[in-house]
Amino acid sequence: MAESATFVDDYLADLGPDDADITSHDTYTNGVPHATFARLRRDDPVHWTPEADGSGFWSVTKYDHALHVSRDVETFTSAQGIRLEEMDAEENAARKTMMEMDPPEHTRYRRLVNKGFTRRTVESFEQPIRSLAAEVIERALQNDEFDFVHDIAEELPMRMLGKLLGTSDEHGRKLVTWGDALLGNTDPDFTDYPVDLVDTDEFRMVPFRSPAAIEIFQFAQEQAEKRRGCPHDDIIGQLLEPAIDGVPLTDHEFNNFFTLLVAAGNDTTRYTMTHGVWTMMNHPQLWRGLRGRPDLMVNAVEEVLRTSAVTMHFRRTATVDTELGGKKIRAGDKVAMWFNSANHDEDSFANPFRFDMARPRNDHMAFGRNGPHLCLGAWLARMEVRLVFEELMKRVDRLEPAGDIAHLRSNFIAGIKRMPVRVIA
Ligand code: HEM
Repeated sequence: MAESATFVDDYLADLGPDDADITSHDTYTNGVPHATFARLRRDDPVHWTPEADGSGFWSVTKYDHALHVSRDVETFTSAQGIRLEEMDAEENAARKTMMEMDPPEHTRYRRLVNKGFTRRTVESFEQPIRSLAAEVIERALQNDEFDFVHDIAEELPMRMLGKLLGTSDEHGRKLVTWGDALLGNTDPDFTDYPVDLVDTDEFRMVPFRSPAAIEIFQFAQEQAEKRRGCPHDDIIGQLLEPAIDGVPLTDHEFNNFFTLLVAAGNDTTRYTMTHGVWTMMNHPQLWRGLRGRPDLMVNAVEEVLRTSAVTMHFRRTATVDTELGGKKIRAGDKVAMWFNSANHDEDSFANPFRFDMARPRNDHMAFGRNGPHLCLGAWLARMEVRLVFEELMKRVDRLEPAGDIAHLRSNFIAGIKRMPVRVIA
């Protein structure tokens, strides 16, 4: 075998069916139907996709088109919602965060937190975050078999994010449970109110139509109260400062902002690290290759991000009649950028189903790309995934699967929610 072969492998033998209903949450309980997305990229890259309630949206499955949509914020607005769910004007206003804003309004809100998430700020937290990763991993490794998601991946991101936000470790567990209920709002394992299975009308004015948002609001207010008159140098403290034209956020804006951070920074990173470990467990030569070449770790993390693309899509809404990929899009139409598909576009990535740590160019869209909404937590997420791999590799020869994995029921988040592993010391 050529030496470079230790750093590459075709990571998916089974790409799933090629006629899956990509709108159905149930579809994804069997994993992402990559064959269906490959067919769409090939045959109908800007595809009108009907929804069960009679509405529909354009599925944009190729990289260049998705990039175009994410950059052209005048034609494709975020202000009418960034997930497929339809909201009326009242709901939209009540649930609005910077994600549902366009520049220049968006820029003013983003500025409030940008500094707290720059590469440099995040790297200044490397040591405490590494220690936390080491502590959690060592505890998990006391058992020869354990659930990687529950014992490691679930434990870390919220506690790591908490270090930047300024919440203490003791709050980590409940923030994880609430965050799960938000992003897992279609999976009965995570909420008693799956939005497409039970009536959630009474929660339509709070984020993700989830009762957990109400508890997060309460917690956010307690945190704000603690800081009033006693400023803290953390992100919650920054959010409370009078920054937007000298005016502080209202309580409601602050609550929504805090909820956004908890929702965005928790499960996404958990599922990314789980996906990475899953890939390497199933392809031990990748794990061995990486152990022998720690200088490839940064590339490996990018490849994990590309191949996992945990936030599978984000939506925009056309503001004017326009054209994309030869299709006429009308003002008001919903347009979904499928990042999972863009990241596997054969015209943008050579051998897209190959995990390649030596990939020369990896401009994946796991965090969006180049548009104003490029993921705020990208540097934090990258560091978290890297530290988990580094600290794991120091301690175990490798991990191997010890049972079936379980996928999240969601057409939005590609998550592995259970992954039993066995330690090879
Ligand atoms: C691997 C993990 C992560 C992935 C795959 C991910 C993915 C994304 C994507 C694709 C977007 C773009 C949304 C759009 O275009 O509308 C985004 C935005 C965002 N992400 Fe992440 N994210 C991750 C981790 C994090 C973390 C750790 C945080 C920390 C708080 C975070 C906070 C945010 C926020 C606040 C936004 C909205 C930015 C804006 O509207 O300006 N994310 N994320």
